[in-house]
Amino acid sequence: MKYRFLPQSNLKVSSLIYGCMNIGGPWSPNPPDRATVDNALACVRTAVEGGINVFDHADIYGGGRSEEVFSAVWSELGLKRSDVIIQSKCGIRRPGEPNAASPHRFDFSFDHIVSSVDGILRRLKTDRLDILLLHRPDPLADPDEVARAFDHLRSNRMVHYFGVSNHNAAQIALLQRAVGVPLVANQLEFNLLHSDLIDEGVTVNDARQRATYRADGTLDYCRLNGISVQAYSPVAKGRLALPKRDDDERIRSTRQAVEHLAHHMGVSGEAVLLAWILRHPAKILPVIGTTRPDRITASLDALKIEMTREEWYSLYLAGRGRDLP
Ligand SMILES: NC(=O)c1ccc[n+]([C@@H]2O[C@H](COP(=O)([O-])OP(=O)(O)OC[C@H]3O[C@@H](n4cnc5c(N)ncnc54)[C@H](OP(=O)(O)O)[C@@H]3O)[C@@H](O)[C@H]2O)c1
Repeated sequence: MKYRFLPQSNLKVSSLIYGCMNIGGPWSPNPPDRATVDNALACVRTAVEGGINVFDHADIYGGGRSEEVFSAVWSELGLKRSDVIIQSKCGIRRPGEPNAASPHRFDFSFDHIVSSVDGILRRLKTDRLDILLLHRPDPLADPDEVARAFDHLRSNRMVHYFGVSNHNAAQIALLQRAVGVPLVANQLEFNLLHSDLIDEGVTVNDARQRATYRADGTLDYCRLNGISVQAYSPVAKGRLALPKRDDDERIRSTRQAVEHLAHHMGVSGEAVLLAWILRHPAKILPVIGTTRPDRITASLDALKIEMTREEWYSLYLAGRGRDLP
């Protein structure tokens, strides 16, 4: 495993993050069964033995079960609090909460942020979070109110560092102007099939190839401001491993390109997909989400791959499904 200090922090983080979204099993109000806990134990043990020290959560994962299962597993493995860097997120409210008529929404109000962190700490059985991310931009967010919530959480030593997820450059700048602490991370979807973050730079002066989704310079903004980018769904949720009937030509040829390189390098497809992200000079941290220990182990091989420029571009071309401008 490779480690480096997260910019603007004293956290020494591994190059891969383990995403705990599914370790609590299917989202359900019932407590997890023993098989789910045992599998989570095997995953976290494999991740820790492989050198991963950052664990990603959100208050909504499994309706809170992922955090509960993680805390059970973490104490069963005998890990010290200082052995792990725990990150969680808040700000998404599911329909029916708190009343049956309440809609699905985002909520960056002082009360919701603070009470969410209370719940996160209770479920994780810890007294502080290393990093709190705001999960998805709330159009009703008032940056000054968010700043007040962050101040409260920091002065009460409940959260050490703060960041965001699914935010673009302008949204981060607006928030950063109000909050008195540096935003240290932005977690975004990024993989070979969802490469808009870099695609918009490649097609910046070519209207015919304009990216379908505008990333608004977010990647470069984060690099310029020392905000670490974390890539979620880094292996495209397994889409490139398992052929499906509705796969189009782009997916088929990307899968072929990944398999070809994986065979040539003697590693798994996951390792190639992660190495493609790690090759980017922005030092993006992939957040892997598999619930299989063997796939965690296979993912670790990504760190051993020195991907050439030619290999990187061959994959990129396959993933974007059209030639460069
Ligand atoms: N900030 C956000 O809005 C946001 C959104 C989504 C996720 N996240 C975070 O990012 C983490 C990772 O997200 P993700 O789960 O979408 O990432 P991912 O690592 O791209 O996908 C994991 C999924 O792909 C499947 N998979 C992986 N390798 C496979 C293979 N070789 N063959 C078949 N299936 C395979 C896994 O199934 P198995 O479990 O069976 O291996 C799992 O369902 C989450 O845990 C969460 O922490 C954040």
